Amino acid sequence: MKKRIAVLPGDGIGPEVIKQAKKVLEGVAMKFSHEFEYEYALVGAEAIDKTGSPLPEETIEICRRADAVLFGAIGHPSYDNNPKATVRPEQGLLQLRKSLGLYANIRPVKLFDSLIKHSPLKEERIKGTDLIVYRELTGGIYFGDKGRDEDGLSAYDVCKYSVNEIERVAVMAFDAAMRRRKKVTLVDKANVLETSRLWRETVQALAEKYPEVEVEYLYVDNAAMQIIQRPNQFDVILTENMFGDIISDEASVITGSIGLLSSASMGDQSSLFEPIHGSYPEAAGKDIANPIATILSVALMLESFGLHKEAKSIRTAVDRSIEQGLVTPDLDPVSHITCSKAGDVISLFIEAEEPKEVNFENMFEGSLPVI
Ligand code: IPM
Ligand code: MG
Repeated sequence: MKKRIAVLPGDGIGPEVIKQAKKVLEGVAMKFSHEFEYEYALVGAEAIDKTGSPLPEETIEICRRADAVLFGAIGHPSYDNNPKATVRPEQGLLQLRKSLGLYANIRPVKLFDSLIKHSPLKEERIKGTDLIVYRELTGGIYFGDKGRDEDGLSAYDVCKYSVNEIERVAVMAFDAAMRRRKKVTLVDKANVLETSRLWRETVQALAEKYPEVEVEYLYVDNAAMQIIQRPNQFDVILTENMFGDIISDEASVITGSIGLLSSASMGDQSSLFEPIHGSYPEAAGKDIANPIATILSVALMLESFGLHKEAKSIRTAVDRSIEQGLVTPDLDPVSHITCSKAGDVISLFIEAEEPKEVNFENMFEGSLPVI
């Protein structure tokens, strides 16, 4: 299979983790005889520096003509504490989601058994956690009218949703539930917000078409609590843009590191794959970031191409690297390897038929894999 991939490394640790993801893709290409063609494009703070815009027109064109977009991270500290900045790196990602019509953001949260000890939560609470968040991505408060009143002393962000916007992501969530454990939890704030009441109405109507799916409704404040107390009760969580942003970061804590969580953003024409973590500027250039979230995002990308065997080989390679303790400092502050070595290890595991064929002693020149 031949596929064209738009690569947007972005800011902070973005370029480092993308480099590892590309190594892994090349490993897959070699092993399964595929051909991936890469077209790089600017986004975020780097794009602002070079072009004045966080999302240059050329980047959108490159993404539109690609079969999928692989995205690193976005954001730079010089903008974070400057509420007066008129252009911001994050606008690049938001505009990209909107321009490509990526209305469903899918974030799987699955516990790696070998990492259960890394979770700040008690083992008995989190055992068996395997949930997936379907977050609406191009509507709600993120994209409603926003501004300041004339005197500058009041500001507003409008939250608006249409039935169509709710339905199209809800259908994806219900279809996913049918392939999984057949449960959907709608997270909203229907006791307060009119948009949430429209979400409930729409989801209730849709649920009739999926009689096998158990549907549960939770207010977002209660959901925030339940996700920490009993995450293994969830299968598919469906929610609007802002609640999904918050809940998915919260859910990432369960697995022990946000550096493990991948995501897919899907629309009718395009798809984008990115780690859920941000640009982590403190780590940029130090070769310490965890590339697994981006590498697992590549697995999601391959699944979207129908390349299931290939995606599985990535997941197995990631599992092996974790089981053997070949991990970055976020997962093991004492004995760890660098971001680039983690990429090497995972690609080697993919290329090797059997794990014993990989000689790590050579790779680390006989020394312990510590930075
Ligand atoms: C995410 C991020 C983005 C969001 C930011 C960078 C705009 O937090 O993808 O979750 O809020 O959607
Ligand atoms: Mg977020």
